[in-house]
Amino acid sequence: MENPCACLASIGVESEYDRAKELKAFDDTKAGVRGLVEFGVAKVPRMFIDPNERIIECCSTSPNARKDLMIPVIDIEGICETGEDAFARKEMINQVKHAAETWGFFQVVNHGIPVEIMDDVLEGARWFHEQPREERSKYYSRDKTKKVKYTSNFDLYKSPVANWRDTFFCAIAPEPPNPEEMPIAFRDVLMDYSKYVKKLGVALFGLLSEALGLDHNYLCEIGCSEGLFILCHYYPACPEPELTLGTSKHSDSNFITILLQDQIGGLQVLHQNQWINVPPLHGGLVINIGDLLQLISNDRFKSSEHRVLAAHVSPRTSVASFFNTYSQPSAMKYGPIKELVSEENPPLYRETTMQEYLEHYNEKGLDGTSALLHFKV
Ligand code: OGA
Ligand code: NI
Repeated sequence: MENPCACLASIGVESEYDRAKELKAFDDTKAGVRGLVEFGVAKVPRMFIDPNERIIECCSTSPNARKDLMIPVIDIEGICETGEDAFARKEMINQVKHAAETWGFFQVVNHGIPVEIMDDVLEGARWFHEQPREERSKYYSRDKTKKVKYTSNFDLYKSPVANWRDTFFCAIAPEPPNPEEMPIAFRDVLMDYSKYVKKLGVALFGLLSEALGLDHNYLCEIGCSEGLFILCHYYPACPEPELTLGTSKHSDSNFITILLQDQIGGLQVLHQNQWINVPPLHGGLVINIGDLLQLISNDRFKSSEHRVLAAHVSPRTSVASFFNTYSQPSAMKYGPIKELVSEENPPLYRETTMQEYLEHYNEKGLDGTSALLHFKV
């Protein structure tokens, strides 16, 4: 097999730089960023470099970064059980409400997903990306209708800059893929994990509904927990991590995300105009509010912007579970919840469908602006 980096040889030679050609050459390798690393790139190709992003200045190691601010950690023991302690539940709801209103991000512990299942899914995700390129490239695709696929940069041809990250995508609900579509070595582990995630998602939507002053089942009844897809991200070690990002600044295109990260670190959330680290917590899960929940809560809950620094010494793996009906868009309309708007508190967004919202988000790519602006009234 020819060295794919040879196709990217013009990188850095200013007069010959052709971005479209470089993107295509990279995409044609079907081996992702990991493929570049396997072939020993010593310099970050230009398509990954954003001249406007001052990574060093605002990263957590900068002297100005706030060390005293930490995203909340919430103990949700018993959340999935019935008949739990009413007092403890009230306390949980208060904490979730505060975190969702101020940070849009929190970590949960005692959430009911066994730590071995979490470790197994992270290991499986890593296995997928580290298997020989011939094996993983069989799954490489940008086909929107595929439920199982491997891609690097879903927005490769749309966004202003590419990220140092590859992704294995699997749509889980409402309709899971045929088992044969999934890599044998990973499918049982992934399906097992997704069952726990689905259950936890339903329980979290219960807490979030109550935190909004609505009936416990409200958010599930309007379909928030119906769609689920899982993104297994892999951030290869980067030779020049100060020049690129693992994931550009963005907010998520869903109701909520349940994120499992390994111990490497690098995830940061933008809070009061500063980047704050989301430190790895073994056994914990990161929960964040997505754009659609911000929209239907009429800005009560915040879909915060976040990013991932490029991994440096070791590769990083994360498994992000997205609650939205990406694979089966329905005609269901989402707008600010009637119970949350009034004369003094008018709707801030127009109604939209999941399909319209996602088309807008994906067309735009991770360009540093919020997709929600498009739906403001
Ligand atoms: C995402 C995301 C963070 C991570 O998938 O939207 O922000 O740690 N992932 O991989
Ligand atoms: Ni995200």
